[in-house]
Formats: sequence, C-alpha cells, structure tokens
Amino acid sequence: MPGGEFEVRFASGERTRCVIRAGALATLDELASEAGLSGKAALIADERLLSTRHGPALLRYADTRLGRPITRSVSEARKCLPEAEAICEVLAERGLGRDGFVVAVGGGVLTDLAGFAAAIYLRGVPWISVPTTLLAQVDAGLGGKTGANLRAGKNLAGAFHQPRAVVCDPEALSTLPPRELWSGLAEVVKCALLAPKEDAGGVTLLERCEGNLEGAAAGSPEALASLVEACMRLKGRIVATDEREGGARAFLNLGHTVGHAIEAATAYQRFTHGEAVALGLRGALRLSHSRKLLDTPSLQRALDLVARLEIGVDRRLSQGEREAVIAALAHDKKARGGKVRFVLLAGLGGPRVEEVSAEECARAVEASLS
Ligand code: GLY
Repeated sequence: MPGGEFEVRFASGERTRCVIRAGALATLDELASEAGLSGKAALIADERLLSTRHGPALLRYADTRLGRPITRSVSEARKCLPEAEAICEVLAERGLGRDGFVVAVGGGVLTDLAGFAAAIYLRGVPWISVPTTLLAQVDAGLGGKTGANLRAGKNLAGAFHQPRAVVCDPEALSTLPPRELWSGLAEVVKCALLAPKEDAGGVTLLERCEGNLEGAAAGSPEALASLVEACMRLKGRIVATDEREGGARAFLNLGHTVGHAIEAATAYQRFTHGEAVALGLRGALRLSHSRKLLDTPSLQRALDLVARLEIGVDRRLSQGEREAVIAALAHDKKARGGKVRFVLLAGLGGPRVEEVSAEECARAVEASLS
C-alpha cells in the first residue's frame, strides 16, 4: 500500500508532520509521541465515526488518555461559534492544561471547529488533525485554517493554527459513500490541474488522475493513498511558502470562485463542495482559454478529466438560481474591494490570479453551468 511521511516547515518555524498510512487511526498514541506530544490528550471526534469499524480503536486511544472521547454531531449548519465554545467548555471541564493537546478526528467541519477550539482554548494548545474524509485529507486537514461560519458567510471567523501532525488513514475512506468520494476527487483534480509537472516525480498527478480516477472513486485504497499523498505534498509546498494566503496559497482556490457562488446560490443544500468545484473548474478553464492562457489541446485535456467527475444530482439551474450565482459573485466582489479575482491556468500546472470583468464573470458562470 503506498503511503508516506514528510514534514512541512513554515517560515514561522512551525512544523507539521504529515503521515499517510493504512491503519494510522489505531496508532494515534504513537504518532502523537513522534510529534513531540506526550501530555493529556482530548480526542474530539465526529460521533458518527464511533459507530463505524474505526470506533473501537478511537475509543481505546481516548480511554488511555482522558476517558471518553468528546463526540460532536457536526454539520455545516452547526459550524458556529457556540459550537466552538461548547468544545472549549468541555476541554476546561476535563481539565486539559497547557501541557495537553487536542486530537481532532472527522471531516473538514469537525477538524476546522476542533482546530479552532485548540487555537483559542488557553490561548492555544497544540493539536493533531486526523481528517477522515477524502475532501479533508486532500485539503482542509493541512495548512492550519481553523474556524467557524458566521451568518454573513462561511469561515468568516477563525485563526491560523498549524497542527503538529496531520494523520491520514486511507482505510478511513472505505466507509465513505461514493458521492462523498467524488466530492473529494474534485479537489484532487483541482490539485492535478495546478500541480507543476516536476512536482510528482515520474508520473504526474494529472497522469495519475487520468489513469485511475474511477478506481479511486470505487474506493481502491492504493489509488486513494497515492492521490492523497500527492495532493498533501503539493499543498504542503504551497502553504510552507505562503502560510497566510498572501500569494501562492490562493492558487488552491482554482475553480472555487464560481464553485462557492454556486454553493451559496443553492443554499449549500444541492451540491457537495466538490460538485460545485467541479462545475467551477469548467468556468475557470474556459476563461483561461478565452484569455489565451491555455491552448486548445490543454483545455480539452483538462475538460475531459473534469467531465469524468460524477455529479450526483441534476446540475441544471433555474434562471433564478443562475441569477443568484451572479449575485453571489457580485457580493464576493463587494467584499473584496470591487474586484473579482479568478485563479486561471497559464498552461496546465501554471496557476495565476487575475482580475476579471463582470462580463467575463458572467461567461464563466455560463461555462460552468452549461
Ligand atoms: N482550502 C484552501 C486552503 O487551505 O488555503
């Protein structure tokens, strides 16, 4: 089974150890020690995980450390400040001190919230991120963005708080429904489109996706582990040079400008995040082509791969919903000082951020939804 270990070193001096290993969920104690954490641990887990076959290993780990795990029933709607506060209250009740640490096990909502609680409890305690969805393994788990939603928008409150370790167990993905895997694979394809050629050593991430996207979607642990490792290495290189998103980290938002607008316009109910990104990628690719940054063969190659991403619902939007997507982009523009910025591709593996006009935005939306 492929897998790997590497370290991300930030300019701030912080370090995150990344481990991709089958069975890692059962060895969290050992992995915490290897990351230099030996105090009292508070395991915060998505309660649904405890009823899967991974539950017993997690319960054993929590037992040896702090008694019961702190289980939370999480959802995007409950990713809010009161939920982060509730987690902090439990940490305080359990007497977690400055020598303690938090272990967050679950999807991106759980790791974002628990990481945020770790960032603010006692003004910051160390934490380990253990993402258990493909989407979180290839994106949210690494890079230290933690936080909660506000009524005004997603992730508007938060903190950068780098985990000491990110532990990805490909076996945790075996219990995910196919739609959830496809959602994560959209972020994998995004990484493949923006990864520089030399990054993947031998077979590029793009070639790996082209060769085995459906195998990964069918849950092949080998295919998934290899894609997770490649995406984490790519993200690790990007966030190490731009922890606070002043530059290159924004490249990770390829496909997200329209993707986020589609999610907002459909009240985060209809599409998974990955499905919205898959649609948004089409707009970003076509815009790159119309700006003559991407040649026709590269556009076709990229669109062919994106077309293989399954979208589990009817993707057609009503006229009202299309207008809502444009309105969401206009709202985004207002929030960003009157400019809409897209991540575009100057060739495959050549991301760059450019400002685009209202007319181009409208065309990108049409291309995403056509
Ligand atoms: N999800 C993009 C980032 O971590 O910057």
